[in-house]
Amino acid sequence: MSNMGYTFVIFGASGDLTSRKLIPALYNLYRKGRLGDDLAVYGVSRSEFSDDDWRTSLKETTAKFAGARFHEDAWNEFAQHVFYIAADATKTEEMVSLKAQLDEKEADAARTRIYYLSMSPKLYEQTICNMGVAGMSDESDGARRIVIEKPFGTDLATSQQLNHCAHQVFQEDQIYRIDHYLGKETVQNLMVLRFANSIFEPIWNRNYVDHVQITVAEEVVIGRRAGYYDHSGILRDMFQNHILQLMTITAMEAPAKYEANSVRDEKVKVLKSVRPISPDQIGNETVRAQYMGYLKEEGVPKGSQTATFAALRLCIDNWRWQGVPFYLRSGKGLSCRTSQIVVQFRQPPHLLFNRKRALESNRLVIQIQPNEGIQLHFQTKVPDAGMEMRLTDLDFRFDSEFSGSMPEAYERLLLDAAEGDPGLFARSDEVELAWSIIDPIIAGWASKSAPRLYWYETGSWGPKESTDWMYSQGREWFDVCPVLK
Ligand code: BG6
Repeated sequence: MSNMGYTFVIFGASGDLTSRKLIPALYNLYRKGRLGDDLAVYGVSRSEFSDDDWRTSLKETTAKFAGARFHEDAWNEFAQHVFYIAADATKTEEMVSLKAQLDEKEADAARTRIYYLSMSPKLYEQTICNMGVAGMSDESDGARRIVIEKPFGTDLATSQQLNHCAHQVFQEDQIYRIDHYLGKETVQNLMVLRFANSIFEPIWNRNYVDHVQITVAEEVVIGRRAGYYDHSGILRDMFQNHILQLMTITAMEAPAKYEANSVRDEKVKVLKSVRPISPDQIGNETVRAQYMGYLKEEGVPKGSQTATFAALRLCIDNWRWQGVPFYLRSGKGLSCRTSQIVVQFRQPPHLLFNRKRALESNRLVIQIQPNEGIQLHFQTKVPDAGMEMRLTDLDFRFDSEFSGSMPEAYERLLLDAAEGDPGLFARSDEVELAWSIIDPIIAGWASKSAPRLYWYETGSWGPKESTDWMYSQGREWFDVCPVLK
């Protein structure tokens, strides 16, 4: 199959994701020769455009979003493979006609076709259903795959319903649920760090690790996304997908093989081991907050209680992690953009030196973005100062070790979808289990006994109460903007 040509059909072609991420990623893949010459990219949406109009507008956006990787000649070559078809995917007859047009254009040879749902999630079910009626999952003329953008449902019930609908038309191995965090190089490197080295695994457990912190901090505020964000809030937007994915990869056991289902089986086991937070514990195990000024953002309803910041303490009830809390935290409008996993090790069992002062113990900081890399913190003797010690570090940075720029997450994911490797996509059970962890928290926050919604200033590390909450457990957030500059 891999020698066949590839056809990408992007539903929601006039949307932001298409111009910001999908087209620049396809352009880069093409430029690097990863998709071969036999490539066709069709944009589909309701607006009327000619091929040329669409190419012109994409040229401008790609130049902006692909940055230094944009080269006019390469673009012009790529643009020859880009086409536009106006159709309303929610109308059955238009989908049938779209299928006929695609078949006609590609009548000469079997091809791998990747359908990408990048339109409003409200339209997913109807679109998939129409694809079923039009027979678009039929693989007699080459592989057919569907990539579904997040959010995959808005809770467990809707995600089950969407899975049910998708399974009526496509087989599970044709369905690629995207979580772009899995396409980030550093997230994949986390598995390499853990399972291609022998020094970390023996200490990666309750005997040596005190706790784990996963922070995805964003400096940006919600801007003009209130329509989506106010319904979604931080838990649906960042935790159910990206942050739980980071947690599963940090916590999982080594899979039997590096192969999609073996890896996903291990991730699923972690999600199944997460201790449910009971309604009466929501106030102890979570902190929620909203940045000051959120209520003034365009389109935010008066008095909205939507959280733009959350901190959760999750416990994983298995042999490896019993008693080791995982602190997960994310927010908009924070001090800086940084995504980091901090593995905080225990104190040495016996303090030989400077026993008056509590030592800062070892930590491993995995910086996912920006400035991707890893830092190991350890105590060192300050020279010529008796036995005074200081926490120092060893740094590893991708960009000083390797040349070339880091590929965008979407490049890797689109290539994997084309080549039929679902390893970096979420399986149906994974998505549903993630919702079953998040749903009770959302319900708890909406209930009468909900914990207070705190406030924080933009440019901070969230509400003071989140810092106090950690202190009250004898721990401290690692509030450091990218450690690797
Ligand atoms: C998206 C969220 O999934 O991820 C956004 O909807 C968020 O709210 C974004 O800003 C963060 O992605 P990244 O790759 O910039 O960390």
